[in-house]
Formats: sequence, structure tokens, C-alpha cells
Amino acid sequence: MKQRTYINELSEKKQETVIIYGWINVRRDQGKMIFLDFRDTSGIIQGVILPNSNAMEIGKTLREEFVVEITGKVNERPEKNKKSGILNGDIELEILHINVLNESATLPFPISGDTREVNESIRLKYRYLDLRSDRMHKNIANRFKIQNFIRNYLEKDGFLEIETPLLSAPTPEGSRSYVVPSRIYKGSFYSLPQSPQQYKQLLMVSGFEKYFQFARCMRDEDTRGDRQPEFTQLDMEMSFVTEEDIIQLNEKILISIVEKYYPEKRIQQIPFPRMPYKEAMGKYGNDRPDIREDKTDANLLAFLWIVDFPMFEKTGEDNVDGTGEWTFTHNPFSKPRDEDFEKFMSKESIGEILTTQYDITLNGLEIGGGSIRNHKPSALRTTFEIMGYNNERIENNFGHMLKALELGAPPHGGIAWGFDRLMMILEQELNIREVIAFAKTGDGKDLIMNAPAEISNRQRVDLGISIKKDSLWKRY
Ligand code: AMO
Repeated sequence: MKQRTYINELSEKKQETVIIYGWINVRRDQGKMIFLDFRDTSGIIQGVILPNSNAMEIGKTLREEFVVEITGKVNERPEKNKKSGILNGDIELEILHINVLNESATLPFPISGDTREVNESIRLKYRYLDLRSDRMHKNIANRFKIQNFIRNYLEKDGFLEIETPLLSAPTPEGSRSYVVPSRIYKGSFYSLPQSPQQYKQLLMVSGFEKYFQFARCMRDEDTRGDRQPEFTQLDMEMSFVTEEDIIQLNEKILISIVEKYYPEKRIQQIPFPRMPYKEAMGKYGNDRPDIREDKTDANLLAFLWIVDFPMFEKTGEDNVDGTGEWTFTHNPFSKPRDEDFEKFMSKESIGEILTTQYDITLNGLEIGGGSIRNHKPSALRTTFEIMGYNNERIENNFGHMLKALELGAPPHGGIAWGFDRLMMILEQELNIREVIAFAKTGDGKDLIMNAPAEISNRQRVDLGISIKKDSLWKRY
């Protein structure tokens, strides 16, 4: 390509002749003159084909979303046409030459405005077009900027980002896991991670001490506005830390993000308030209360930690394990609070044992959670015993974790943010899908690639899989 100027650099090039590349955003034919707005990844500029210009003939054939190379002169706009507060509001491009690089058929929906108005299935089917729109482009760009900021922040603080496997082992506990059939070991399955919980704890045993990862997590649960079957966690784990250390670090990062990237927003209370689980349930009837003083203020951010969760709850009839009277409330690896440790080890007053679990909520959504973990094998084993697991089951499912804890495991703890949820709130979106480039529908479909889909006979044979005819999902 020839020497290119990006659209957001044009204001530095007044009176110069430049070449830009991009799309035709809007076209207004006024007979004698044609106005064309051009868009590239950096912004928008208004262009004009003046009467008698050589570009007029080709200008008449152009349509919105054609891909073009434009040679033009950067002119100051006449005073009365200047617009303040928008990119390139004081300049326009006098179009001298147009080279069409590709044409475009009429789009299935307009993208020059806010696509929130458009039917969402159509947006998701043509997501690549939806992402061309200004708002979606900004959401995805900001997502990257915040991720990058966090990576740099944590690197400076001594953290390493370490990737953990996507193909791992299924456990009977993982009823909401997606599974992947193995071709080599027919009849065996990998499982996709619901979170990197066990691996990050093993990394603490490896002596890395400060781990983080932007981790893709997969959960086969019913989707909602703030849930996707695959989503991104900012996952962290640290050794030799207290709950207080983790809470402090996370507050600092969140405050820095808001100050740097969302200066128009106000955090209601710093340090973030903390509320015991019991109080939240008693006062608000849920464990993620929206404590904003003014719910109509779109720029108000009310962070709130929920602490002092019960460690165990009675198993309901829905409990798939069905073996014991008790199950964990959050995470089987969490440690009880120090005051309750003895009760826990002697398995007394189980319903009263509180855990070190802390959840962070923002404006009524749970945006993260974590805990200090049991780093002694006897303590972790106690959790499983309280849940009624027999030795064989403990060994089969968690033997590897217990073994690792026997081999010099440091005290450790961590947290994971629901990164998509955080971005959704920061970008003032009502749905998590608005901040995920290729989101799935509310019922878990990828409408571009058409997933999930049946596999071919050949693949089924290769994988040793046969499908019961009556289990095939209904097509419509
Ligand atoms: P938890 O299961 O609470 O903890 O998950 C952490 C955060 O991830 C977000 N989240 C989701 N976001 C979008 N779609 C989903 N389906 C979805 N499910 C969860 C939430 C939640 O707070 N391993 C532990 C963390 C730890 O203890 O360190 C864990 O995964 O914002």
C-alpha cells in the first residue's frame, strides 16, 4: 500500500495531500457536490467531491461500505460548518482521486448508528458488520486497553501470566463442564475448564508465587444477560498472602482502571465497603446488592465486597452428587476463617463454619470472587469428608491435589474477576454480549459458524461415538 495516513492523524496534516484507506460510512449526494464520510479503524472524516472535480464521475457510483483508497487534500472547514468536540470536526477532505478496492452489497442492517436497535440474531449472524459500528468497535478496543493495562500493572507487581490447559480431565463434580471426545482413547473424554482453579493452585506449589491469566472458561449452564457459555476471567493466585492483601491489591487495580480510562465515573466509596453475607441476605435478599446511592446516575460505580459466607450448605434434591448431607457453597478448596478452623477440623457445627471466601460486586452484579485455600492436605481432605465422600472417591477425584499439598505447598489464595461483566458495566452496556467480539446467543449458539452442529459420520466413527436417534435436538 502507498504511504497511508490514518484518519485520526489528519488534523496534523492541514493543507497537505494525503492518502487514506477505509470504508464509506455515509454518502450524501447533493447533486453538484457529493459528501462522503470515510471510516477507518482510527476514526471518521467528512470528505467532499467539489463540482467539476475529476472524482465526480466515479463518486456517483459509490455506495456505503465500499472499500476505497482516497487521495485528498486536508482543508479547514468553513467557520460555520465547524463542529467542536468531535474528531476532525474542524477539517474535511477535498477528494481528488478515488480508487475502489472492493464493492459492498447493501448491508442487512445499517451500521452507521447504534446497532442496539437491530434484532440481535441478525447482529450476531453478521457480527463482523456489527463490529464495524462505532460503539461496538469502541467496546472491543477498550476491552483490549484495559486488559493491556492490567497485564502491565501485574507484571510490574511481580506477577507472571501463565497459560493453563484447555483440555483437562472430567470430574463427576463437573456436571456443567463441556467435554471433548478423545480419538486416540475412544470412549474417554477431556473436559474444558470451568476455571483454572486447580492448575493455578498447582502453580503455587510450583513456587511461582504470583500468577495471573486472562483465562477462557467454559460452563454449560443456562445463559442470561450476564452469562456466556465461554467467558473470560482475570484469574489470579498468590502465595503467602492474607485475604486483606488480595482485597487491597484488587481495589488498587480497579481504582486505577477507573481513574485512567473512565475519569467521568465516580466510585461511591473508597476503600470499597464490605458486607457480611448474612447482612446482605437479610437486608437485600441476595448476595450481590446494588448499593448505589443514585441508581439513575450512569457514572456511579458502587463496589462492594461480600464476606463471611457460610462454607457449607445442605445438599438439596437437585444436588447431582447426592452422597452427603453437605456441600461447599463456593469452592471446595477454600479455607475456613481462622476462628472456625478448629470447628471445621473436628467437623462440628458445620452449618456455622464461615469461609474466607470474598466476592466483589459492582452495581448489583457479582464481578469476581475468591478465597484463601486449604494448603494442608488434612484440611482439604476434611472438606471432602464433610461432604460425605469416601476415601476412594477423594483419591480418584482429588488425589493429585492432596499429593501436591503434601509436597511443600505454600499458604495461598486468589481471586477471579468476570472480566466481561466488568467491561459491560464500565461500558454502560446491559448485556455481556456487547463487550465480546464473537458472542453466542442467549441460548448458546454461534450464529456465524452455526455451532453447535452435528459431526459427520466419518468423525463419529473416528471418535467411536454413536448418537441415539431420539436424543437429536429438534431442528426448525
Ligand atoms: P467463580 O465461579 O465465582 O469463581 O467465577 C468468577 C467470576 O466469573 C464470572 N462468571 C461468569 N461470567 C460470564 N459468564 C459466566 N457463565 C460466568 N460464570 C462466572 C463472575 C464470577 O464472579 N475459580 C474461582 C475463583 C477463585 O476462587 O479464585 C471461580 O471460578 O463474575
